Amino acid sequence: MNRNDAPRNPATTAPATFHVKSFGCQMNVYDGERMAEMLGTQGMTPAAEGTDADLVILNTCHIREKAVDKVYSDIGRLTRDDGSRPMIAVAGCVAQAEGSEIQRRARNVDIVVGPQAYHRLPDLIDKVGRGEAAVDTDMPAASKFGALPARTKQARPTAFLTIMEGCDKFCTYCVVPYTRGAEISRSWSAIVDEAKALVDGGAREITLLGQNVNAWTGDDDKGRAQRMDGLVRELAKIPDLRRIRYTTSHPNDMSDGLIAAHGEIDKLMPFLHLPVQAGNDRILKAMNRSHSADSYLRIIERVRQARPDIAISGDFIVGFPGETDAEFEDTLRIVEQVRYAQCYSFKYSPRPGTPAADMDHQIAAEVMDERLARLQALLNRQQAAFNAATVGRTTQILLERKGRHPGQLIGKSPWLQSVVVTAPELSIGDFVDVDIISAGPNSLAGETVRRKAA
Ligand code: SAH
Ligand code: SF4
Ligand code: F3S
Repeated sequence: MNRNDAPRNPATTAPATFHVKSFGCQMNVYDGERMAEMLGTQGMTPAAEGTDADLVILNTCHIREKAVDKVYSDIGRLTRDDGSRPMIAVAGCVAQAEGSEIQRRARNVDIVVGPQAYHRLPDLIDKVGRGEAAVDTDMPAASKFGALPARTKQARPTAFLTIMEGCDKFCTYCVVPYTRGAEISRSWSAIVDEAKALVDGGAREITLLGQNVNAWTGDDDKGRAQRMDGLVRELAKIPDLRRIRYTTSHPNDMSDGLIAAHGEIDKLMPFLHLPVQAGNDRILKAMNRSHSADSYLRIIERVRQARPDIAISGDFIVGFPGETDAEFEDTLRIVEQVRYAQCYSFKYSPRPGTPAADMDHQIAAEVMDERLARLQALLNRQQAAFNAATVGRTTQILLERKGRHPGQLIGKSPWLQSVVVTAPELSIGDFVDVDIISAGPNSLAGETVRRKAA
């Protein structure tokens, strides 16, 4: 369609092109890919820029207030120079949490679709065409996975694969149990089949996803009860799948089998994202984390016994309601004890409907700023130290994307570090042995290992 035409009413035009923009966690990225693949099978084509597309899907995150604000400012920016706008769908966790309220706040929004209902997007688009309300925040008993088309070929060598949905943990600060619903594991065969399809399509590394990925359970093809380690073992049998990762894990679901798997399965990469959130037991209890600082440290110790070189990553929240200075110091202490390779850290953000939002003694913004700065300074030092310790090592990287300069490629080490190499003869998707020659805070520089003359 000619975009110079008079402003059209998006509510009556069937979209031919689409653009999906995902915010938030990797599960949202995965959902965004599945939406794009589904619209592709419906004959729609992707557009690079949001305002060029006939349909824009904002795949949103509700985890912190800032994430939500960003969506509303994005909606405002979708109006084109000529005053027209694309059809706008709000998907993801804000859609689930706010439902039709979104359309009261932003009248431009045509479709609201939750994270468990997006397989019905084509119907919702039709509804918009008919001038009907297009809001779907159902959590249907039959999962979306059964209704989505099979995976299509990926351009990238790394892929995400959601193996379970939802969360039953109800940490008192967190919206995920409300936006994603109860924990539901996908079936063994659905996961194995999707992994094989991804590998056939070119994936060489798969990251298994779930908000509590290590709570996955299911029966294998012989009807035996399995947990994550069994699933990883099965996926490791796929010949061209070279690397397996998983995220995010909860300390209470770190089973003995999964810990042992880190020492036994070569394809399982030496990296564990295991959030602890805080280092003080009173705060952990108020967060309803159901583990203590000590029990967390014991898990880390056992994981390191199984796989001594494993890189540990985590998430932290500073300024949970009632957190005293001394209690915050305990967070710094646990960080000192663990020695992280990398971490994410956040200021506590009160979320509507969660128990912590109604707790007394909310912490002042300045106090949170100061705590976050101190925590991040420490975490940055640890990340730099972890990176520096890999200098001089020879390791294998999987090349994932082009670098800034000609001939430069960027790959990931087994420990999830970005490694920059200059190797014009190599391509994205290649595995290559490199000597790590220097390390910065966020990436490493490598040199491809020259094969010795025979
Ligand atoms: N299921 C994962 C991750 C959940 S969301 C887990 O339990 O570890 C990712 C991270 O966002 C959390 O680990 C937590 O650190 C942070 N987070 C969640 N709710 C938050 C809130 N209300 N304010 C600030 N950070 C929050
Ligand atoms: Fe949120 Fe806690 Fe569930 Fe993680 S475990 S998703 S932080 S409720
Ligand atoms: Fe955000 Fe939903 Fe993921 S709230 S972190 S997009 S599960």
